[in-house]
Amino acid sequence: MSANPLPASAGEPQHGGGVLIVDFGTQYCQLIARRVREMGVYSRITVPDRVGTMIEAMQPAAIILSGGPRSVYEHDAPILDPAFLARGIPVLGICYGLQWLTQTLGGAVEPARDGREYGRTEMAVKDAALLLDGVDPQTVVWMSHGDHVARLPAGFRVLASSEPCPIAAAADPARRIYGLQVHPEVTHSAQGERILRNFVLRIAQCRNDWHPGNIVDEKVRRIRELVGETGEVVMGLSGGVDSSVAAVLIHRAIGARLHCVFVDNGLLRKGEREGVEVLFRDEYRMDLHVVDARARFLDALRGVSEPEQKRKIIGKVFIDVFRDKAKSLRGARFLGQGTLYPDVIESVAAHGGATATIKSHHNVGGLPKDLDLVLVEPLRDLFKDEVRAIGRELGLPAALVDRQPFPGPGLAVRCLGEITEARLAPLREADAIVREEIEARGLHVGLWQYFAISLPVQSVGVMGDQRTYENVCAIRVVSSQDGMTADWELLPVEVLRKISARIINEVRGLNRVCLDISSKPPATIEWE
Ligand code: XMP
Repeated sequence: MSANPLPASAGEPQHGGGVLIVDFGTQYCQLIARRVREMGVYSRITVPDRVGTMIEAMQPAAIILSGGPRSVYEHDAPILDPAFLARGIPVLGICYGLQWLTQTLGGAVEPARDGREYGRTEMAVKDAALLLDGVDPQTVVWMSHGDHVARLPAGFRVLASSEPCPIAAAADPARRIYGLQVHPEVTHSAQGERILRNFVLRIAQCRNDWHPGNIVDEKVRRIRELVGETGEVVMGLSGGVDSSVAAVLIHRAIGARLHCVFVDNGLLRKGEREGVEVLFRDEYRMDLHVVDARARFLDALRGVSEPEQKRKIIGKVFIDVFRDKAKSLRGARFLGQGTLYPDVIESVAAHGGATATIKSHHNVGGLPKDLDLVLVEPLRDLFKDEVRAIGRELGLPAALVDRQPFPGPGLAVRCLGEITEARLAPLREADAIVREEIEARGLHVGLWQYFAISLPVQSVGVMGDQRTYENVCAIRVVSSQDGMTADWELLPVEVLRKISARIINEVRGLNRVCLDISSKPPATIEWE
């Protein structure tokens, strides 16, 4: 994911009174932001060199400085202009954040005794002042640092210590500056949530009005403001959670002036197109344009089996098809998109060095800027779980809101080798069987994804007295928090037996079923 340089849109924050989180490069930044939002308080992440601008734009009631992998005394440590400290906004520094505060305000930071203090430890509370109010005298916390504070700046006092780290929590209450060497945002810190709540709700007194109902009202109001009385919006609707929630929000704001485009690329799952038509055209009464581009996609993919090439072709053809359709909807000056916050967060990681491209992702949000349309992105500051909560608030069916992710390139990345309708049809049937058997038993709750893959390998089988020579199919069932890592999950044996028997008996073209028992990493969730 990368920082998105797209212009301001209907998702930009106007939500004063929240928490601004400064990313010093920690892997936990999004976790901090989500913990704050779970308290009903708006939060936003920014990089150190944008702090001044973001304070002006957002008017935060509190600032949290995150941890980070550097040492404050290294020459390439992140630079942050300390001018904001004079504004009197309550500040909480976590790990590197505390070390930065210490060094900036005249204290001393040094390497930890044994080089690194890592994992679970007991913290002894010495001063149950506001930050640690209600925290047990001895509490389990999580730490992960190579440096720690050796001497606090003038005005600070120690609030808690742990065995390896004498200054585990500190405060300068007069200046409302607080620091933690330990990580309250991770669940391993038993009372981390209480500590964060003390800072956000009691010390900083942030507004806790970030709830689905309020969010919907605010989004609808902002969409109306942006689009005006007569503006028209065109948007690609995939039937996935993000584009569906974005479309329903925009529809609530401007009704028939939203024109949705659903592209049937021939790589969809069984019943997918019909499901979108019934829900959005018949039930929501949206202006839905279904473009049948099956032949166009399959023609472009003919003879191609290299995964990256497939992905690139599908992305390009999608843009061409969408562009043609958008042009035919002449009145539209706005483009609706279901872009989420993790796609646009300005993070140190996103600004950092090159990372290897594992797969070039494609989704309906990835449209080019030369369409010359103003973006309407109502989900641009929301995390996925918040989008789901809003979907429920808007009355979208649970089957859609909680639906498993389905990649933009569709079945193409699950039909290994060359893609033909003759190979897609059995895959579609096998995938439907996997879904039916799992969902009918409620086993999908807690699973991230469950699907079938068609391999470009044929095997010999016997049906009746006849020899068969058909393709092999694999089943992949995984759990995951965010798709970045995943574990394979074992379905009950009787369910596997049923899935296998049904696929082999009911689906012509597949005569063998295998189980994928690979975790991510080192495998990926999709096979291509
Ligand atoms: P991998 O295969 O990289 O997938 O482990 C991680 C998650 O991303 C989904 N995925 C995609 N989603 N466009 C999408 O919108 C894509 O091109 C794409 N490729 C993979 C995948 O289903 C899994 O949830």
